Amino acid sequence: MASASPEIQQRATQLRQQLQKASYAYYVLDEPIMEDAVYDRLYRELEELETQYPELIVPDSPTQRVGDIPADKFISVRHNIPLYSLENAFNLAEFTKWQERWQRHLASIPDNFEYVCELKIDGSALALTYENGLLVRGVTRGNGVTGEDITQNIRTIQTIPLRLNLDNPPARVEVRGEAFLPIDIFEKINQARATAGEALFANPRNAAAGTLRQLDPKIVSERKLAFFAYTLYIADAEKSQPDNLQVPGISSDEFFNPTTQWESLELLQEMGFKVNPHRQVFQSLEAVADYYNSWDNARQNLPYLTDGVVVKLNSHELKEKLGFTQKFPRWAIALKYPAEEAPTQVENITVNVGRTGAVTPLALLQPVELAGTTVQRATLHNKDFIEQLDVRIGDTVIIRKAGEIIPEIVRVLPELRPENSQTFQMPHNCPECNQPLVKPENEAATRCINASCPAILRGSLVHWASRDALDIRGLGEKIVRQLVEANLVNSVADLYDLTVEQIASLERMGTKSAQKLVNAIAESKKQPYSRVLYGLGIRYVGKVNAELLANYFTTIAQLAQAQTANLAAINGIGSEIAQAVSEWFQIPANQTLIERLQAADLQLAKSSDRETSRQTQSLAGKTFVVTGTLPNLKRAEAEDLIKQAGGKISSSVSSKTDYLVVGENPGSKLEKAQKLKITQLSEAELRKMIE
Ligand code: IVH
Repeated sequence: MASASPEIQQRATQLRQQLQKASYAYYVLDEPIMEDAVYDRLYRELEELETQYPELIVPDSPTQRVGDIPADKFISVRHNIPLYSLENAFNLAEFTKWQERWQRHLASIPDNFEYVCELKIDGSALALTYENGLLVRGVTRGNGVTGEDITQNIRTIQTIPLRLNLDNPPARVEVRGEAFLPIDIFEKINQARATAGEALFANPRNAAAGTLRQLDPKIVSERKLAFFAYTLYIADAEKSQPDNLQVPGISSDEFFNPTTQWESLELLQEMGFKVNPHRQVFQSLEAVADYYNSWDNARQNLPYLTDGVVVKLNSHELKEKLGFTQKFPRWAIALKYPAEEAPTQVENITVNVGRTGAVTPLALLQPVELAGTTVQRATLHNKDFIEQLDVRIGDTVIIRKAGEIIPEIVRVLPELRPENSQTFQMPHNCPECNQPLVKPENEAATRCINASCPAILRGSLVHWASRDALDIRGLGEKIVRQLVEANLVNSVADLYDLTVEQIASLERMGTKSAQKLVNAIAESKKQPYSRVLYGLGIRYVGKVNAELLANYFTTIAQLAQAQTANLAAINGIGSEIAQAVSEWFQIPANQTLIERLQAADLQLAKSSDRETSRQTQSLAGKTFVVTGTLPNLKRAEAEDLIKQAGGKISSSVSSKTDYLVVGENPGSKLEKAQKLKITQLSEAELRKMIE
């Protein structure tokens, strides 16, 4: 094979730099500078050059983030510098005591000392090592002394640079920070897991930790972890590299040497890391208290979970003087928010059979107030979860609600366990159809696999009618149950044969409401192909995947005939999803279903461009961000309206944003929009624009 000419080498370098800059702007700065399509084209060009001339591949090439080969296990390694944890304070009194303590530890109290306050991100700590600017190792916190080498996985995190953005990097740099899952991504992952009948993650922290320990870096990459850096160590060249004093970039006058935590954070940012923007320096305890109190409310609007603020002395010199106790640094403390937890009693445990056949145990609780809502039930996920918690009927448990996460049981109070408490056994037979349940070895879920189980049928109908699928108003759980019990509906296709008389024959149903429902069902035939695909409830095919599939295979016939390999070739569709889609279309009952939907005139192909342009597209070409609580519309509803009118939705404000739709308690997006002088709209103004 010929080797790459100097021109080709140059082009590869240029592509790498352009792509690196674009993804830095997109992921770290939140200010995209390149259209996705352009990025994809340049990325493919680089990939092609690298395939043709493998000698062009360098470890920090943007194409090298996701490794091909899953690990069989992770190797335990010793940290270069141990990872300490932080002492907690839950109120101002404890915080004041901490200040007194560190001051007592010093011979004299320094004047003008400063505190840096940072948000305490609720994720997993990571330690990253860079040698001569290149990321060489990434390790989990583990027990603080040893952790697991998960470098392959860490490389997939886009907010972690593969190479530091420094001309003369020091020989060795250690960076620590928190890997976490933004709340919306966490929710999407759990939705997909629910669709696939897999055990749900209890909260974003568990999901992040679980993801980091995934053996397959492809899965890690799909999960889209994020990272905030907060600690920087620059190895002392003279001590650690005695033979290597001449390494370029080591001379201290050339290299900016931080003397405070604040400067370290700024330097981390310059190096290419994302550093949390809400950091602040304060000179007094009172100012720290104000920061802590104001974030207790404001944190509700953050797209990630925080559980407190971390207060650190700013001066590195002072930190060095104070050092560590057995467990904690003396120079920092976590001021935590009390978790929203409450005790209650488990009155009973039942099971619910979902549309995938997954049998989910549910705890029925004595109603309890928590974070402004009454909680009466909590999911127990699956058999393993119940066993791990050892929760029994009659137990007193602590339930928790964090951010916008559904309530969960966090622990049992065994000392309050009554003598007559009862353990719960998963049923052997389906409570709905009495067929034996199965629990596949490699899955957490117990399932009913009877294709004609009425619970599965009801679940599929409710899903089909749901807002994001065919959006059939008035077809809720109650009517679905009646239709199934009256044997009027045995598949979603039967909905389209229902007559007003049939529906009116159901209990508590008048002719008028029956007519309304028939109309709503007829109306759903206009819903686009991607929604139909989503509505079919194929395993792993959530909203996002349905749209992806509809874009690549623009008719259902094409999709049904697609080879698994062609499906898996779509960026974002993994092999598991591809497999599930192929298998679904091979089942004769599903083929019949598609034929019947076709006969009923549902949209089974992507509407042609001509058709879309005929619709009113009053917001075409404009990008919108929605923030805060709107008076009438839920955020998702506002976003749907915008999309239907041809507008684009973005989750973050940047110079590309045309309008910010603002409701109550808008948070940091509003500030950013004001800075960028972006036009703001109320809900009413948005509606006017659409009309
Ligand atoms: S500093 C010795 N800063 O909180 C200094 N930690 O409870 C230790 N954390 O293990 C860490 N946000 O996982 C620091 N801004 C922040 C943090 C933070 C979250 C986590 C970190 C640490 C735990 C201690």
